[in-house]
Amino acid sequence: MVLMGVLEDKSNARLFYRYLSTVYDEVNRFVWTEEMRAEALGLLGLDRDDRVLDVGCGTGFATEGLRKHVDTVHGLDQSVDQMERAWEKFGKHGRVRFYRGDAERLPFRDDTFDVVWSSGSIEYWPNPVAGLAELRRVARPGGQVLVVGPNYPSNPLFQRLADAIMLFYDESEADRMFHEAGFEEFRHLTHGPAYSPDIAITTVADVPEPDESGAGSAAEAGIEDPAGSGPERRAR
Ligand SMILES: C[S@@+](CC[C@H](N)C(=O)[O-])C[C@H]1O[C@@H](n2cnc3c(N)ncnc32)[C@H](O)[C@@H]1O
Repeated sequence: MVLMGVLEDKSNARLFYRYLSTVYDEVNRFVWTEEMRAEALGLLGLDRDDRVLDVGCGTGFATEGLRKHVDTVHGLDQSVDQMERAWEKFGKHGRVRFYRGDAERLPFRDDTFDVVWSSGSIEYWPNPVAGLAELRRVARPGGQVLVVGPNYPSNPLFQRLADAIMLFYDESEADRMFHEAGFEEFRHLTHGPAYSPDIAITTVADVPEPDESGAGSAAEAGIEDPAGSGPERRAR
């Protein structure tokens, strides 16, 4: 039996972020720092005109880092409360384009993006392998997918706590998830702030050529026509 943490449930996670969004930026900077963001960005080869998607963009902390390297970032999140904070920073219709949506059912056509980034979000996805496969599907062959998640703690007490809350994973579990999601080439970096230098695990994967079976090719909506996925379509 697979045990899931309380926040690996989409409606629980949305409710959680309705409240956390008000203090997210103040709290987050202690566990997901600008230095860590720079280390993760350094794993990518970004060009200014790359099409970049930030899945689970939240209040836009990673989006801000990505935007320093590329002209336009597309940010998607399931929480309008989180995105409202991002709109305050970037505007609602500026160089960051926002979509309300689900990481496990991305509203974009296959092969749309050069780079797909997701930091601090996979731990909330009920089916992380399905989410990773979606990231792979919307990234073009030869592009890159980068995922930052929480590293599995070594202390047994913290392990029990972690398991009860959400997904924490180590390198071997990351290997399994990325393989099952269809990635062949990837590498991991564990990093963190000085007080906990292994708190996060970042994986950067090369997007393989599609297999001949055409698996995972179901398109939903195009990036030029994100009908129904815009954050202004609020459905609470
Ligand atoms: C810890 S925050 C990370 C925000 C941002 N990426 C960063 O680097 O600071 C996690 C975000 O993932 C979003 N999220 C969780 N589950 C999601 C899902 N299934 N689809 C889309 N977004 C999701 C949450 O709403 C939240 O904004």
